Amino acid sequence: METRPLILDCDPGQDDAISLMMALSPHSGLDVRAITVVAGNTSLNKCQRNARLIAELCAKHGGAKDVPVFAGCETPLHYPLATAEEVHGVEGLDGIEIYDPSLPLQDEHAVDAIIRLCRNLDSVVLVPTGPLTNIATALTRAPDIADKIAEIVLMGGARSEAGNITPSAEFNIYVDPQAAAIVFDAPVKKTVFGLDVTHKALIRDTHVAQIEALDTSMSAILTNMLRSPYAEYDRAKFGTAGTPIHDACTTAYLLRPDSFTFRNVCVNVETDSRITRGHTSVDYWQMTEKTPDTHWAIDVDETAFFDLMIESIASYPKF
Ligand code: RIB
Ligand code: CA
Repeated sequence: METRPLILDCDPGQDDAISLMMALSPHSGLDVRAITVVAGNTSLNKCQRNARLIAELCAKHGGAKDVPVFAGCETPLHYPLATAEEVHGVEGLDGIEIYDPSLPLQDEHAVDAIIRLCRNLDSVVLVPTGPLTNIATALTRAPDIADKIAEIVLMGGARSEAGNITPSAEFNIYVDPQAAAIVFDAPVKKTVFGLDVTHKALIRDTHVAQIEALDTSMSAILTNMLRSPYAEYDRAKFGTAGTPIHDACTTAYLLRPDSFTFRNVCVNVETDSRITRGHTSVDYWQMTEKTPDTHWAIDVDETAFFDLMIESIASYPKF
């Protein structure tokens, strides 16, 4: 189980929210030092509101308290922002009652916070689950932090699966391919959960019934998300028997790394093509010159994945 300090960089989105609920749960044991927010599933303003709302609900129901939330980049490095309200809803969090949380947004920009924390902590793990704009900007502005980052654990990309925003690209990489290229080229260990594995981490109707049966405030919040139009979108699009909870794979890995199978690769990102922008060219066979410093997830123990999710949610007290 991960004991190093964590910075969770996200664009909530329901799967980001579920990943946060697991990471901030009462007995997770994870050392979450900050939540940083990037524009992606919806606008930065709505993503930061959603991140504060989830963090506040987790704290209110017995989870980690006082985790600071920082807003970061509101546009990608090069392309205009592309969002995914068709998946996540107009507020980016279909299935949750939206309100303006009292948990404050920090004044410090997320990129400054990432740089500060990386410099001040011995070894930090960055956990981005949205476009990589904040991470890339921090690495570019302060290259020295690469030596302080122990690992970047990210959701993004695809190799054996087709894309989910274009035939070639997964959403997080598509939105900001220039940022992704910076991150994949950085001299830092990366652990990557692409669609190859997240399309195997499916939450099925039977799972939702088990979560609902917990009959707690937090299980009701999760159940409502998993029964909202969000939960149907990928099922209908890809014909899967369940909803892929993409971002929760990062937290499941932090909690129980042996739930996943990896292959050491290097990854190049298409940044310019109109047709294949955001494609992750995953070098399985060492055919390129880059160091294979990327651990690419190729399989998941689906039972362990769901057990981790329900254990995390069940650890919140009943009310
Ligand atoms: O392609 C899935 C990814 O894009 C997830 O992180 C989801 O939240 C969206 O950001
Ligand atoms: Ca996300």
